[in-house]
Amino acid sequence: MLSQEENELLCRVGPGTPMGALMRRYWIPAAFSHQIAKPDSPPIRVRLLGENLVLFRDTQGRVGLLDEKCPHRTASLFFGRNEESGLRCVYHGIKFDIAGNCVDLPCVPQMSEAHRTNMQRQLNVGSYPCLERGEVVWTYMGPAEHKPEFPELEWTMLPAPHRYATRHIQECNWLQALEGGFDATHLTFLHGGESESSRKIVATLYDVIPTDFGFVVGTGRERSDGIVMWNMNVMLSPFHKIISSIPHAAHVWAPIDDKNTMLYSVDFNPARPMTEQDLARSKAGLGIHTENFPGTDRAVRNKANDYLIDRTLQASGKSYTGMIGFGTQDCGIQESMGPIADRTAEHLLACDAAIVKIRRLLLQTLKDHAAGKPLPGMDPASYRVRSGRFEAAKGVPFTDAMEQYVRRDTPIAAE
Ligand code: FES
Ligand SMILES: [Fe+2]
Repeated sequence: MLSQEENELLCRVGPGTPMGALMRRYWIPAAFSHQIAKPDSPPIRVRLLGENLVLFRDTQGRVGLLDEKCPHRTASLFFGRNEESGLRCVYHGIKFDIAGNCVDLPCVPQMSEAHRTNMQRQLNVGSYPCLERGEVVWTYMGPAEHKPEFPELEWTMLPAPHRYATRHIQECNWLQALEGGFDATHLTFLHGGESESSRKIVATLYDVIPTDFGFVVGTGRERSDGIVMWNMNVMLSPFHKIISSIPHAAHVWAPIDDKNTMLYSVDFNPARPMTEQDLARSKAGLGIHTENFPGTDRAVRNKANDYLIDRTLQASGKSYTGMIGFGTQDCGIQESMGPIADRTAEHLLACDAAIVKIRRLLLQTLKDHAAGKPLPGMDPASYRVRSGRFEAAKGVPFTDAMEQYVRRDTPIAAE
């Protein structure tokens, strides 16, 4: 349980909020590169951390992310003409380059050169730097003097055929989505199905260890022979998860605003290209991916249609929920908690130990940021980690056992 004040601190991400300021210290995914595939292709709308933006690729292939509103009279640049190395507002023809500089002012032809230069300077539009890694456009929305290098996020460093990525909108706050991602107990229930007996196996050991990249969540089950089977999942600050699974997988919970989240889901194989067989479940909208309406980020199984819940399937026991696909099950149950979960109304249990620690750690990170202390994940090499499963003798603390498994070897050559 959190106080209302703590809940607000953790959830609100708009400009001027503590969590919003923290997230703005990191690279944030804005879109897939293919959404603005060609030079001078149509711009797209992007909403991130409560800010409305427009993303475009200019004639040289460079990517720009601008405030949506034209600084002249606030028309939307989404309707702009993307031509000759800039985006031109179609209301009165003012043009901006990828850095937001006003580079043409055709609506006032009679002006001295000095006056024109001065006017253009005043008409610069807000912009954020972008780069492309792993077929995703990432942006940095924080103070220029703090801009970090892009981290060594494994799935972004692989050649394209080694990766399969989708995204969908969750109509809820980023934190309850992230909490769902690190909630080990729900795996046996929400995603359960095949047999009743499988639901009796729940973890009894929980630990969350802060690290130089974020934190590691360990959930353990003790066997009768005195061995603990640990499942280790990595959180990379501020909103990444590397999932302990085969093939490897990852999530990014990028806040659209306080009440909506863009969830990127990635399957990847560092060793070889993914095959059609590898991706059969993912492409069928099972696993962590959802089936979306074509050309949209909106899942076919969504809140408006109760995720197409099948009560007969639920009653049959073949699916615990009657909802098809892990992604849909997660989305459905997380959205059911409301746009921003009311954590003052909870009754936390022993199985929520990891969630409680995650919240405490995030609150501590906010405090550290406010105090000007170093933040996790600022060293690009700190992201050289993986999730996984391992065994350790009973009594060996998770923090000692996980260190030898969590670091991956050498950096992978960028594509
Ligand atoms: S509002 Fe954009 S040019 Fe006038
Ligand atoms: Fe889940």
